[in-house]
Amino acid sequence: MEHLFERRRCLLLCLTLISFVLLTIMAPYHYYTVYTKSQVPSVIWKTSSPASPPSVHLRNTAKTARVCNVFSGEWVPNPSAPYYTNESCWAIHEHQNCRKYGRPDTQFLKWRWKPNDCELPLFNAAQFLEILRGKSLAFVGDSVARNHMQSLMCLLNRVSFPVDVSQTSDERFKRWSYASHSFTLAFFLSPFLVKTMEADQNGPTNTGLFNLYLDEPDDWITKVNEFDYVIMSAGQWFFRPMIFSEKKQVIGCHFCLQENITDLTKYYGYRMAFRTAFQAMNELRGFKGMLFLRTFAPSHFEGGDWNKGGNCLRRLPLRNNETRLDGFNLELYMIQIEEFRRAEKQGRDRGMKYGLMDITEAMLLRPDGHPSKYGHWPNENVTLYNDCVHWCLPGPIDAFNDFLLHMLIDIKKKES
Ligand SMILES: *[C@@H]1O[C@H](CO)[C@@H](O)[C@H](O)[C@H]1NC(C)=O
Ligand SMILES: *[C@@H]1O[C@H](CO)[C@@H](O)[C@H](O)[C@H]1NC(C)=O
Ligand SMILES: *[C@@H]1O[C@H](CO)[C@@H](O)[C@H](O)[C@H]1NC(C)=O
Ligand SMILES: *[C@@H]1O[C@H](CO)[C@@H](O)[C@H](O)[C@H]1NC(C)=O
Repeated sequence: MEHLFERRRCLLLCLTLISFVLLTIMAPYHYYTVYTKSQVPSVIWKTSSPASPPSVHLRNTAKTARVCNVFSGEWVPNPSAPYYTNESCWAIHEHQNCRKYGRPDTQFLKWRWKPNDCELPLFNAAQFLEILRGKSLAFVGDSVARNHMQSLMCLLNRVSFPVDVSQTSDERFKRWSYASHSFTLAFFLSPFLVKTMEADQNGPTNTGLFNLYLDEPDDWITKVNEFDYVIMSAGQWFFRPMIFSEKKQVIGCHFCLQENITDLTKYYGYRMAFRTAFQAMNELRGFKGMLFLRTFAPSHFEGGDWNKGGNCLRRLPLRNNETRLDGFNLELYMIQIEEFRRAEKQGRDRGMKYGLMDITEAMLLRPDGHPSKYGHWPNENVTLYNDCVHWCLPGPIDAFNDFLLHMLIDIKKKES
């Protein structure tokens, strides 16, 4: 009797020990999830809230599956990067082809994103294409969204070449087919997400004056229905002068300098543009896909604004204790998150699926990753002479695809 009891106790002890060891070994790799609702973005609590983040509590609660916020971390050296060059990838947009235009340093290529509490695996083209076999993915946004898509195409190049199957010669709407995997990739250029008309090519700041119809989604809404994944983003265009209309009536503007129009600020326009875009997705009949918000990617002009001598001359990433999200970057970021949460809540009943690709913190730390003057020849007359908005290819924006693949894997895991 006693003997048996001893054996049972031993067995119990051994099992406990084994599962403990297994949990410890596997936890960092298997228990992270895409950033869940309960988590507050670390960039926010770093600046405004003294309370410790929910993810820390989760981490210390043994019974809860471990959650790792992959979007909070540091850039760490990665000597084996980059994984393509301007010679091996034909998809690099001219203005982001930094090597071609003589960028001399290469250090900025040699980093990878390391989340604080787990690992973010590097992009694997074969795995990505396998997961998206027979599926389709569309980008909706501005030239930074195109920048992201071209990074993806360069990374996929190792495994498969696409065929241009665009249905129009309009460069704003591109479509490619990766026939090897029946995977379709598309891009819909829509910098403001809502219907827009250029009112004046120059405007108060020589960057154009735009009429935004804040309650009407742009043309992309008629085209995204069939896609399995839609990645939406918007950013720098909202710094330009804009006149806002709702119900076809002018209701205000951002820096339009017209006496009879109230300045409602860019924040108002940004919020309403996302609200309208998300709402239109929630109401889109027949859409069975998933909508990702790729959050705001900060620019890095230092020593002046973009048109007043500002430039980005750093050659190394920042540590995450060396900067923080504040000012308009924080404001725009928060607006996106709020509108995303709002739409997610409203869309839930309809079965709408949302994913948050929260790259803001990671990109805030990469002032070294922009083309600066290496996006054109020195004597060229271009509007954005020092480009501190887009990202060199190859470059830090390649990490967007590490995040994307991670999220796709995670979604698949949850579905199965
Ligand atoms: C790639 O960059 C090199 C300079 O490092 C340049 O000579 C070459 O023309 C570029 N090739 C392409 C296809 O951009
Ligand atoms: C504001 O004034 C301008 C010029 O006086 C006029 O063209 C425009 O229609 C006015 N806008 C509104 C909203 O009244
Ligand atoms: C940031 O953290 C690093 C590593 O922990 C440390 O060496 C460095 O001094 C810190 N920098 C600042 C500005 O606190
Ligand atoms: C550059 O182009 C702008 C508009 O196209 C023009 O107004 C300006 O004079 C040009 N500058 C030079 C130095 O050629």
